[in-house]
Amino acid sequence: MDVTPQIDLAKYRNIVVLTGAGISAGSGLQTYRGPDGVWEKHKVEEYGHAKTLRTNPQKTWELFGGMRIPVNAAKPNPAHYTLSKVESSLSSDQNFLLITQNVDSLHQKAGSKNVIEIHGNLNTTKCSNENCELEPFFDTQPHTDSVPRCPKCDSVLRPDIVLFGEPLPSLASWQVTRWLRSVDLFLAIGTSGLVYPASNYVRSAKYVGARTVLINLEEMSPPNPSFEDEYIGKAEEVLPKLFILNT
Ligand code: OAD
Repeated sequence: MDVTPQIDLAKYRNIVVLTGAGISAGSGLQTYRGPDGVWEKHKVEEYGHAKTLRTNPQKTWELFGGMRIPVNAAKPNPAHYTLSKVESSLSSDQNFLLITQNVDSLHQKAGSKNVIEIHGNLNTTKCSNENCELEPFFDTQPHTDSVPRCPKCDSVLRPDIVLFGEPLPSLASWQVTRWLRSVDLFLAIGTSGLVYPASNYVRSAKYVGARTVLINLEEMSPPNPSFEDEYIGKAEEVLPKLFILNT
């Protein structure tokens, strides 16, 4: 797909980008929905919910612990690098926030700085007992064979990600809400737009008058009228050609 640069970044002061699994597809990672998606083989009701963690935590580890292996082998692709370049090219009176639903750390590996991981991070493990004092810690072990236990309270340990049925981390939610009050360019990249609350961010952005742009392999279904512009194609091919960077 041939895209002439159409987003002149110099026109915007407060840029907010929302990314989803599609931006990491070019790095060889599975998306969640669609024919080869994660939820095809592992039913979301069975593996993706907070209640599974309570009733059968081995299943939670089977899916998300197992995901640590491909995620840690993956490398950022041109879409991740373009966003990092956009951020570093901005002038001192411009602000940039990258909100990601992804738990794969690829934005940070590409050099992005101001990243909010609203669904947590796959390589962090924490205690499932909210009253326990164990600090969340970096952990790349998949734990697919046996459920790890907390060294302090013996509760089940869990990946530090947001499961269905759980709220977003409150600091992350608060920060996103604050940014969406003054955004003037909002981009959503590689997301089906089906998971709340991220699916609503474009509406907030539109409400405050931001230019709203979707970059995705396919159109949203059902269509979301809050998006003004759509670029349909692979993020790793579209993004490197999409921006006029500050010189
Ligand atoms: P989805 O799997 O729902 O959607 C991925 C989107 O990316 C789809 O619309 C694809 O068409 C598109 N896509 C695929 N390849 C692409 C490419 N190369 N370039 C651009 N777009 C591409 O993923 P998310 O919207 O991220 O949450 O899903 C949101 C949340 O639902 C996830 O964070 C996860 C999931 O269940 C948790 O597990 C907590």
